[in-house]
Amino acid sequence: MAIIEATGLTKIYRTRKSEVRALDGLDLSVPEGTVKALLGPNGAGKTTTVKVLNTLIRPDAGTATVSGLDVLQQPSRVREIIGASGQYAAVDENLTARENLAMVGSLYHLGRRRSRARATELIEAFDLVDAADRPVKGFSGGMRRRIDLACAIVINPPILFLDEPTTGLDPRSRLALWAIIEDLVQTGTTVLLTTQYLEEADQLADHISVIDQGKVIAEGTADELKAQVGGHRVVITLVDGVDQDVARDVLQRHGAGPVRVTSPRDLDVAVEQGPAELQLVLGELSAGGVPLHDAGMRRPTLDDVFLSLTGHGAVADTDTESEVA
Ligand SMILES: Nc1ncnc2c1ncn2[C@@H]1O[C@H](COP(=O)(O)OP(=O)(O)OP(=O)(O)O)[C@@H](O)[C@H]1O
Ligand SMILES: [Mg+2]
Repeated sequence: MAIIEATGLTKIYRTRKSEVRALDGLDLSVPEGTVKALLGPNGAGKTTTVKVLNTLIRPDAGTATVSGLDVLQQPSRVREIIGASGQYAAVDENLTARENLAMVGSLYHLGRRRSRARATELIEAFDLVDAADRPVKGFSGGMRRRIDLACAIVINPPILFLDEPTTGLDPRSRLALWAIIEDLVQTGTTVLLTTQYLEEADQLADHISVIDQGKVIAEGTADELKAQVGGHRVVITLVDGVDQDVARDVLQRHGAGPVRVTSPRDLDVAVEQGPAELQLVLGELSAGGVPLHDAGMRRPTLDDVFLSLTGHGAVADTDTESEVA
């Protein structure tokens, strides 16, 4: 049974000068106890979707339910069973980590003693013991994300919305946050997260909805999406001034799709058998006397998925800056 369900969500932001169709008939279904990732570039409509589902904004059309509750008819009951953290989350900068957690506890009528006990528990679980009594405004990006997420789970909500939980974090902090999220999922929490990274969706999500311009343009597991663009890409960089024709022919012969030329020196192609094809490509280029500056293999990125689905890359929308907290 789907615990989060949305049909035909449409949202138009109207300003004096323009109209932006942020959601354009978006459908979504998340089975209980699973993790769904909304994967898409800047401006795709990820935050808008999450805001509709957690009752912060109303859609212009469409319906959505969370645990069977209609987000438009029963918003306060929806808010009792969800936690949310992310780009718009409201951690009070001037309060300490502990005070923020206690405040959330009192908002949910946990009572002073239980609020304090829960705050201590979360501070330990999120590795914030040393910083617990400092104002959040002095926190690093990684610490902020952790306190933000901790605030979202004070009441152990069965449903959690995470809007770009790790954007801007260094690799170590990202891994730490992934581990925290994975622990939550182990306890049965249903998670809807948004991300711009195929890798993150791959790590955390059971199912992925790729969104672009307010619509779902593809759905599946990470493996299914990657299979659409080839499991690996062989990437080569020629030495400056070397003619690319021979290299392009070699890649074309071994590729599972079109060769992409991103600069006069850089070419890449999807392949089915990553390491084996890379070896063959390198052997042929060497035999053909094509000097290489660099060569290797990489996993597909969101950009590759996008290119294959839409024919255009995951181009950043430059006027979403104001949305980023
Ligand atoms: N309050 C607003 N007023 C006007 N336009 C808005 C508002 N919020 C979002 N938009 C526009 O709606 C579209 C979708 O924005 P949204 O924030 O949902 O995208 P996103 O996928 O979360 O992007 P990002 O990855 O940058 O966070 C964008 O074109 C954005 O500029
Ligand atoms: Mg966003």
